[in-house]
Amino acid sequence: MNESIIVRETTETDAPAVVDLAALTWPHIARSRTEAIIELDPWRDRQAAFGAFAGGRLVSYARFHFRPVRVGAAVVNLGGVADVVTHPDFRRRGLARRVLQAGIASMKSAGLPASLLFTANPGVYRGLGWRTFHGISGVVDLSGMPRLGRGRTRITREHVLRLPPALEGVYESGCASHPISQVRPVAYWRDWPKWMLNEPNGQTVEHFASVAWRGASPCAYGLASRSAIIELCCLPGEQDAMLDVFDHLVEASRADRAVGAVRLDLPYDHAVAAALAPCATFSTATLGMVLVLDLKAMLHALQPALAERAEGIRHDRIRIHSPAGSATVTINDGEVSIGDSQEPCAATLTGTAFSSLLLGFGSVRALHDAGEVDADPRALELLDALFPCRNAHYWAIDRF
Ligand SMILES: CC(C)(COP(=O)(O)OP(=O)(O)OC[C@H]1O[C@@H](n2cnc3c(N)ncnc32)[C@H](O)[C@@H]1OP(=O)(O)O)[C@@H](O)C(=O)NCCC(=O)NCCS
Repeated sequence: MNESIIVRETTETDAPAVVDLAALTWPHIARSRTEAIIELDPWRDRQAAFGAFAGGRLVSYARFHFRPVRVGAAVVNLGGVADVVTHPDFRRRGLARRVLQAGIASMKSAGLPASLLFTANPGVYRGLGWRTFHGISGVVDLSGMPRLGRGRTRITREHVLRLPPALEGVYESGCASHPISQVRPVAYWRDWPKWMLNEPNGQTVEHFASVAWRGASPCAYGLASRSAIIELCCLPGEQDAMLDVFDHLVEASRADRAVGAVRLDLPYDHAVAAALAPCATFSTATLGMVLVLDLKAMLHALQPALAERAEGIRHDRIRIHSPAGSATVTINDGEVSIGDSQEPCAATLTGTAFSSLLLGFGSVRALHDAGEVDADPRALELLDALFPCRNAHYWAIDRF
């Protein structure tokens, strides 16, 4: 059967077949929205998609989209994975696997150090190397959730399609390390709610925004749908206002809409994630999975964050061996360099669990105790300093 299957990158001319396949699989999602999500992706020219074709007909598909993600002071370009689908008549023949393999090769050749996806079906990806984050889940239980803020900020509820223009500045400062205007015109930011949040009938009733004001100017805001808090940004120093915004979104979800839980994806160093971690309960409905594609590229991308964390460390060197390659991390008076040094190392670490470690999703000690890494005690100490497990919340996609 497989002989007649061809796997290749899809082109513009395949777009109708892609939308047909998606509509067959997810009939509740309007075709226009699928088209818009692909068409209007701000990094559309940096994404790749692959399909498996049987006799010229598209029967399996996956899209690999570029997403810059903030990790402390670093920006790591990740390959997201979306719209993984095989036609019902062609399932369980290894087609999704072949399409995903093509995507992995493409992300590697594009120089992306790692890939990240969300799924309710991790078994599809595990065989190819993606690993679930330790303890990660994005669905937070709202019942009994305490207030995080002090309730001192003036908050208004806004229609998501009529957001105050000044929110653009709040958004941009939230994404300071990678302003959207450098990637595509700010029009993307303005248009995003229209194509992403509009219901097919033209309404956006399931979406709303809470905006915090400092005098006449917005200083923080959040966007929510019925089932998710989509974005939470503030101006520098306005974290308290953002916590008030979060409380407002939770209250609106809980009281007005009788929603008991919402999905929440935040960067691990996000102020709301940090405040929430000790008191929130998360379910495991959807799992995040990450695959390090190139260890050295990943460490290079993380270098600004590592430099911050290495402050105070005088001289040390660690050698890391992983399925995504080997590398040495050398620290000299707080300066961090990544390479292949053959000099003696104070510590070595070997194992397969680097995906969760490098992005701060799992602690090296927990991985060591679970037998997923092999390290001497010095390595554990150093890696704890360089790759602290912050909390379960991460993932600053293009908006957060
Ligand atoms: C999930 C889906 C894409 C799998 O496609 P497929 O072509 O049948 O998958 P493959 O035959 O290539 O199998 C790939 C791997 O997934 C596993 N797998 C496939 N279907 C699975 C399922 N329903 N549950 C658990 N694992 C599954 C296979 O065992 C295989 O694992 P391995 O690589 O360790 O051997 C397909 O069932 C589908 O389109 N489902 C509906 C859409 C969907 O749920 N997409 C995923 C969104 S995250």
